[in-house]
Formats: sequence, structure tokens, C-alpha cells
Amino acid sequence: MRALQARGSLVVGLSRRPSRADEHEECDVADRAAVDAVAARVLQRHPRIDLLVNNAGVGARGNYLDVEPEVIERVMRVNYLGSVWTTLAFLPGLDRGSRLVNLVSVAGTVAGGPYSASKHAQLAFSRSITVELARRGVFVHTVNPGFVETEGFPQRDRFGPLSSRLVAEPQLVVERLLDAVDKNRREIVVPRWYRPAAWIQALAPGIVATARARTSRRRLRSR
Ligand SMILES: NC(=O)c1ccc[n+]([C@@H]2O[C@H](COP(=O)([O-])OP(=O)(O)OC[C@H]3O[C@@H](n4cnc5c(N)ncnc54)[C@H](OP(=O)(O)O)[C@@H]3O)[C@@H](O)[C@H]2O)c1
Repeated sequence: MRALQARGSLVVGLSRRPSRADEHEECDVADRAAVDAVAARVLQRHPRIDLLVNNAGVGARGNYLDVEPEVIERVMRVNYLGSVWTTLAFLPGLDRGSRLVNLVSVAGTVAGGPYSASKHAQLAFSRSITVELARRGVFVHTVNPGFVETEGFPQRDRFGPLSSRLVAEPQLVVERLLDAVDKNRREIVVPRWYRPAAWIQALAPGIVATARARTSRRRLRSR
């Protein structure tokens, strides 16, 4: 947000808690009616949107067998449907030359639990809407970060001494996102070295499943 403000943009923020945006709208993006109402208010003040960023997301550690069903529902509603409802609600403001950025995840390319499934769905949405909005001259960017240390996703304590290598700072994502917008890059992975993970999952899903099942059995036995 601050990087966009520094570039001279007027930023309207949608979130449940107050933000430092130039204009803030309280909104739960999982609530379609609320998103429609907020979008109508914002579009009255700003009929054209230059850049729409679908950033809202919640984490969910754990797999299908150990999280509550409510968690499975919540991540789909916020991470996937939140992007869909927000994009559709702001569509009247997106015109030739506008940009849409979807903050997805490397977890959208490698299967592993309910959060990952919500990001797979959001990635499919982002790739689909890239094609659909091309007709209108709206350019869509898909940003897939790996582990990043943020308030909602505290990652450092997960990886111990490896965390300085595995966990990126939010600033790197911001820089790469703006670079993708400036250079018309449709889809990026941040940091880049996460890319092979997506390729291996896509090319050899059976081998990945066998290897991960073995690791998870070993982990269970060592408990
Ligand atoms: N950090 C990572 O490791 C990582 C990796 C890959 C992808 N991502 C993705 O990057 C995006 C940003 O995450 P972050 O790491 O910056 O997490 P964050 O610091 O927790 O930020 C998430 C933002 O989403 C908003 N939000 C959450 N639920 C919302 C809802 N229902 N309605 C409206 N706003 C909502 C939060 O504001 P309120 O709480 O005030 O609503 C907050 O501003 C997410 O889509 C996340 O999945 C993160």
C-alpha cells in the first residue's frame, strides 16, 4: 500500500480492521453482499480503477484430517471467493489499461491441505480471468509468493535455522509485484527458486504423492 502511495496512487483499502489507506472501507470479502455494497460506494467516488489488488487472505495450518470443517469453509470463502466477489463487484471500474493483481501462492501450485486447495482455486480463477479480461484490455497479474513473514502468516518459528533462507520479507514481494506490473509479467513466483516445486508437482504428481506419504508416515512413527 505504502509503495503505491509513494508512486502517487490514491489507495482505497478494504479490510475488516482499519488500515492506513487514503480511504478505508470496512469489508469482509467473504461476504458477497458486503463486497457489492462497498464496491458500489467506491465506484461512485472513483468510477475508474487503475489497479485492483486482491490481497485479502487467511492462513490455515493443518490438513483435511485434523482441521475443523469451518476452517476448510473459511479459507475457500476468503482466499478464493473473496477474490472472485471483489473482482466481479469492481468490474464496472476496470477498463482498457486497468490492472488486476491476484496475490495467490506457491501453495496454489503444490497440493497440501485446505489452505493449498483454496489457493489452487484462486490460481485457476486468476488464470481464467486473465483470459476473460483480455477482451476488455484489462491486464491480470498472478503473484505466487513462497513463505513470507507477515502478521497473519508468522513463518520464522517454523523453520528454525533454515528460516533466513526459506522465509522472504514482504518488501521482496512488493518489489517483484510492482516490477511485474511495470513489465507486463502475467505470472510470477517470489522468490524465483520456488518455481521447480510447481513443475515437479505438475509433471510427476504420483511420485510427489508417494514421497510425501512416506515422509508423513515417518513423521507419525517418530512421534
Ligand atoms: N505470508 C505468506 O507466507 C504468504 C505466502 C503466499 C501467499 N500469501 C498470500 O498473500 C496475501 C497477503 O497475506 P499476508 O501474508 O500479507 O497476510 P496478512 O499480513 O495477514 O494480511 C492479510 C490481509 O488480508 C486482510 N483480510 C483477511 N481476511 C479478510 C477478509 N475476510 N476480508 C477482508 N480482508 C481480509 C487482513 O485485514 P483484516 O484482518 O483487517 O481484515 C490483512 O490486511 C494473502 O492472500 C496470502 O494468502 C501469503
